[in-house]
Formats: sequence, structure tokens, C-alpha cells
Amino acid sequence: MGLLEGKKGIIFGALDEKSIAWKVAEQCVAEGASITLTNAPIALRFGKIQELGDKLNAEIIPADATSLEDLENLLTKSMETLGGKMDFMLHSIGMSFNVRKKRPYTNLKYEWMQKTFDVSAISFHKLMQSTVKLDAINEWGSVLALTYIAAQRTFPDYSEMAESKALLESFARSFGFHLGAQKKVRVNTISQSPTWTTAGSGVQGFKEFFDYADQMSPLGNAPAEDCANYCVSLFSDYTRYVTMQNLFHDGGFSNMGMNTAVLEWAKGLKD
Ligand SMILES: NC(=O)c1ccc[n+]([C@@H]2O[C@H](COP(=O)([O-])OP(=O)(O)OC[C@H]3O[C@@H](n4cnc5c(N)ncnc54)[C@H](O)[C@@H]3O)[C@@H](O)[C@H]2O)c1
Repeated sequence: MGLLEGKKGIIFGALDEKSIAWKVAEQCVAEGASITLTNAPIALRFGKIQELGDKLNAEIIPADATSLEDLENLLTKSMETLGGKMDFMLHSIGMSFNVRKKRPYTNLKYEWMQKTFDVSAISFHKLMQSTVKLDAINEWGSVLALTYIAAQRTFPDYSEMAESKALLESFARSFGFHLGAQKKVRVNTISQSPTWTTAGSGVQGFKEFFDYADQMSPLGNAPAEDCANYCVSLFSDYTRYVTMQNLFHDGGFSNMGMNTAVLEWAKGLKD
């Protein structure tokens, strides 16, 4: 439909074809955008991002999202490569060091917790602050970060990622104010259904997480492809006054209290 015709953007976090960011990158280019892709240097070595870059004719610029130097380099190079300031950016980054090391929530290592917050949430503040510093985004631009409902409700196995997401959503709201007032840029978070990806399936009991949400939601879990379409709509000019929101893309899960389908499903697990 050409919804992003002439727009330029940066997509963080495409690791392999399961990544939500991978689908968003594909959909943005299909809608007419030019993009650069970025990921942590280690992910460039082990992931498949080069494959995506070749397919979409997108330059790949490595950046550890916790490094201000890397982020400034990324923004500067993206402006050079794409020939101007950005119109949109997707932050699609999450990683918990305590979850990876299987530490229970009541016995977390604080050094790792701080790293988790840095990668999963403070990186967003760093990206936004660098964007302001380098004046790297156009008026009426749009910034999105991906989040999860564990920021508002308790999902025990999500561990310290819950607090990471709460912090991320709060940073997005605050920058929604500052960038909105300064430059008419909108900033939102999308709270996505459980999705089978490397980050998602790293959470203990992910299958039960996924199936429970799928049964509870009247529309079922939202697939990554549909999340990509939603991102495109929020990058497009059709949503110019949507800002400072945490937008649920979850098939209705967030507003459900009870669904008898869940009872049937749980009974099936017992039998
Ligand atoms: N999968 C789910 O169930 C689900 C649900 C809701 C929200 N989300 C969120 O969606 C986003 C994308 O995750 P995904 O599910 O597509 O998994 P994914 O594993 O494909 O993506 C996570 C990305 O974060 C990148 N990353 C990690 N550390 C980094 C660093 N220091 N610098 C730069 N990049 C770094 C990884 O390389 C990877 O590409 C995350 O924020 C995640 O929390 C996922």
C-alpha cells in the first residue's frame, strides 16, 4: 500500500527469521521505507541478520545498545546511508541475565539485574537521548519499543524482565512528552502477545505461557507478522496523534478476566 513511501528508519533486534524485528523490517520495506538494520556485534556473528540485509538491500550497522558511542555512530551512519534524518525507529531488544542463568526471583544477582535493565530498558533512554543530541529524527517521526504485559501484572517466570518492561514503558512515556513538545515526534510501546522467538522461548515454562494466553484471548495470540503490520501503521502518517501510549497487541488478553476455554484447556492438561 506504500504506507511508508519515502520514509527512513532504523530497526533494532532482528536476530533470525523468528524475531519480531525481522518481520517488521520486511514489512516496512514492503511498504516503501528505506531502512538500516542493527544488532549487537555478537548477534551479527551468530545470527542471520546478513541474510535479511541482503534481501532488503539494507545496510547493517553493529551497535551494542548499551553503548552511547555505538548508538551515536549508528545514528550518524544511518543518516549518511539513507540520506537524511530518520522518520521511525523500532527498539526490539530484551535480555535477562538472571533468567538466562536460571536464578529464582527471590535470589537474583544484582549485578546481572543492572545489566538486564541496561540492555532491556536504559538502552531505550540512551537511544532517545542520542537522537536528541544528534537531531536525528524528523518532525512527525515515530518511535516504538516492544514490551510485555508483565509490566502491569505478575507473571512469576518473567522475573526481572517485568521491571525492565515497566522501566522501558515509563521511559517511552517521558520521551513521548519531551520529543512531542520539541519536535512533534511520537513515542509509544507495543505490548505484544507471547511469541515464539529466541528471547520469548528463553522464559521458563514458555509453552504454558503461550498456550494459556492463546486460550484466554478471544482472538488468540497475536502473531509476529500482525505485530509487524501494527508497527507499520504506527510508523505511518495515519497515526500522527497517537503518542505516550502503551498499546496492547494481544488478541484481547489484557482486558480478559475469565474465559471458560482456559478451564477446558487446563482440564485437558490434567487428563
Ligand atoms: N517473544 C515474546 O514472547 C515477546 C512478547 C512481548 C514482547 N517481546 C519483546 O520483543 C522484543 C524482541 O524480542 P523477540 O521476541 O523478537 O526476540 P529476539 O531474541 O529475536 O530479539 C531480541 C533481540 O535483542 C538483541 N539484543 C540483546 N542484547 C542486545 C544489545 N546489548 N544491543 C543490541 N541488541 C541486543 C538480540 O540480539 C536480539 O536480536 C523484546 O523487547 C522482547 O522483550 C517479546
